[in-house]
Amino acid sequence: MIQVNNFTKIYKLNKKQMAEQRTKSNISKAVDNISFNAEKGQIFGLLGPNGAGKTTTLRSIATLIKPTEGTILVDGYDVAKDSMEVRRRIGFLTNELKMDSHFTPKYLMSFFGSLYGLSKEKIDNRIDELFSLFGIYPFANKKVGDLSTGMKQKLSIAVSLIHDPQVIVFDEPTNGLDIITAKAVTDYLKTLKEQGKLVVVSTHIMTVASKLCDKIGIIINGKIVAEGTIDTVLKNTNTFDLEDAFFQLYKNNIKEGI
Ligand SMILES: Nc1ncnc2c1ncn2[C@@H]1O[C@H](COP(=O)(O)OP(=O)(O)OP(=O)(O)O)[C@@H](O)[C@H]1O
Ligand SMILES: [Mg+2]
Repeated sequence: MIQVNNFTKIYKLNKKQMAEQRTKSNISKAVDNISFNAEKGQIFGLLGPNGAGKTTTLRSIATLIKPTEGTILVDGYDVAKDSMEVRRRIGFLTNELKMDSHFTPKYLMSFFGSLYGLSKEKIDNRIDELFSLFGIYPFANKKVGDLSTGMKQKLSIAVSLIHDPQVIVFDEPTNGLDIITAKAVTDYLKTLKEQGKLVVVSTHIMTVASKLCDKIGIIINGKIVAEGTIDTVLKNTNTFDLEDAFFQLYKNNIKEGI
């Protein structure tokens, strides 16, 4: 289970960032006092436009950055105080993950597997399972730099799942993928959920969310503006389609000057 309680993240900006964001302030509030829960056996979607705070939230859940205020618990462990316990339980995929292009898929799986302290046998079993599932075997001993975008993404997913985590946190997992590859990924996320795991994804693509997620949180300018099942969000916004609901929430919250 993930419990996000009054989470706020403020970044300190350097001069270059201040110039880029055209601000005189050297701090920027990326996420502003958000709370939500996500349970096992569920796919939770964090939806929002560019710059809304999705990656910041997911990176904090994955212990890569510390909350400025509030707490985030993963299976009861605090991301700031018990980060090792959280890392053991979590599989995190980010689009910023750069895999060294000289290594082979098989080597990367073994390397990350040994970082998690897995036995050679366990690593070989996971390689077998995940490479078969995602069609990576023909490329197992090729250099990562020579793989296609889709194959690299599938490999990143396999690497992030090497330790068979109970909680899966994927930032925009289908970004840049064709529909066949994207479907392979979303089908697998559904399988993980059916195995009783908790899956959290971020996306700005509403059709992905409506097909995939059991529960969503819509984040705009660092604030959660709607949360619940898709049906609840549609009912509360008086709409029939998630895209319409999103546009309405966006319009309303921009008007209110959030
Ligand atoms: N390391 C950082 N330092 C300073 N500001 C940052 C940093 N990372 C993100 N931000 C700012 O925080 C805000 C939220 O960014 P974030 O990357 O979390 O949004 P996002 O919802 O993931 O957007 P996208 O859809 O573009 O991936 C943005 O205004 C961004 O410019
Ligand atoms: Mg992002």
